[in-house]
Amino acid sequence: MRAWAWLDAPPTLRLLDQTRLPQEEVWLDIRTVDALVDAIGRLAVRGAPLLGACGGFGVALAVAQADREGWDAARTASEIGRVRDARPTAVNLAWGVDRVRPLVGAGLAAVVGAARALASEDEAANRALSRLGADWILSRVDRPALRVVTHCNSGALATTGWGTAYGIIHELHDRGRLELVYADETRPLLQGARLTCWELTADGIPHVVQPDAAASGTILGGHVDVAVIGADRIAANGDTANKVGSVALALACARAGVPFVVAAPFSTVDLATPSGDAIVIEQRPADEVLTCGGTRLAPPGARAHNPAFDVTPHDLIAAIVTERGVVEPAPTPGVPLLPGLAPEAPRP
Ligand code: MRU
Repeated sequence: MRAWAWLDAPPTLRLLDQTRLPQEEVWLDIRTVDALVDAIGRLAVRGAPLLGACGGFGVALAVAQADREGWDAARTASEIGRVRDARPTAVNLAWGVDRVRPLVGAGLAAVVGAARALASEDEAANRALSRLGADWILSRVDRPALRVVTHCNSGALATTGWGTAYGIIHELHDRGRLELVYADETRPLLQGARLTCWELTADGIPHVVQPDAAASGTILGGHVDVAVIGADRIAANGDTANKVGSVALALACARAGVPFVVAAPFSTVDLATPSGDAIVIEQRPADEVLTCGGTRLAPPGARAHNPAFDVTPHDLIAAIVTERGVVEPAPTPGVPLLPGLAPEAPRP
């Protein structure tokens, strides 16, 4: 399953509208920078690795539009900048733009070629890191079939193909080593309930969807063997930004001695950002939490705090898995990660 396609004539980025799933499969034909920025902003297309590909193909759309509308170099550069800045937290978007932008002078075919290469590399990276992640988990968790919790959507929909954290889950399933997935529903846009469950159903993987607020109790109750999440930006020290709610899972895992695993292509690693403190966290519109299904639920005057992501400190992360290998910021799963949070420590 792929949530995207590039068409050469006319130059078009075809995207599966992720706001309409699972009820409807609607494809968007994106031909302008405005349309792409809008699709990214309202999460019709989302997920860090797929945003990386959108960055690359966004440069192609800008070059094609410049040809059609007679933009000069300054206007073209500024429109490419709008794509790059469409969302701030997932580093892949800027990475995709930066990787393809140097080819603008070589023409549309060269730009499209670079964007296609980037997309192919992403899928290959996802498949490689999924094998590495499954190997790492199975070498450390002694159980015939695993119970896994995941958060948000990190599957084929969020990437150019296959998935990252979801890819590891898929790999465990293919190896016959998966018992059950707890899929957090993922507030406020329900990427877990709508998108991850859609993929899990299509792939025949046993799962339940749970409220985000249930996850820590599920972990502390002994129902989870490993937590696996994706990432939007991994700072140089291993601090990781991912969908809001991720850090709550990590804290519960630290208390329960359950390994907390982050999976991402190396394009999500941002060595220029020293630590999580420097990661810009996107604030989403208030309506996403003050309303439900278009109906206002909060009383008049209520204001919202609606961060799209949070940062998990590296010392809560047992393993960061990329296609280049596995690093262990908190080396031994099941041993104290924070003072006073050891599994054997008395509960406060
Ligand atoms: O706001 P979203 O839906 O783009 O957030 C997506 C996530 O947080 C994913 O977990 C992350 O991008 C990794 S996807 C492989």
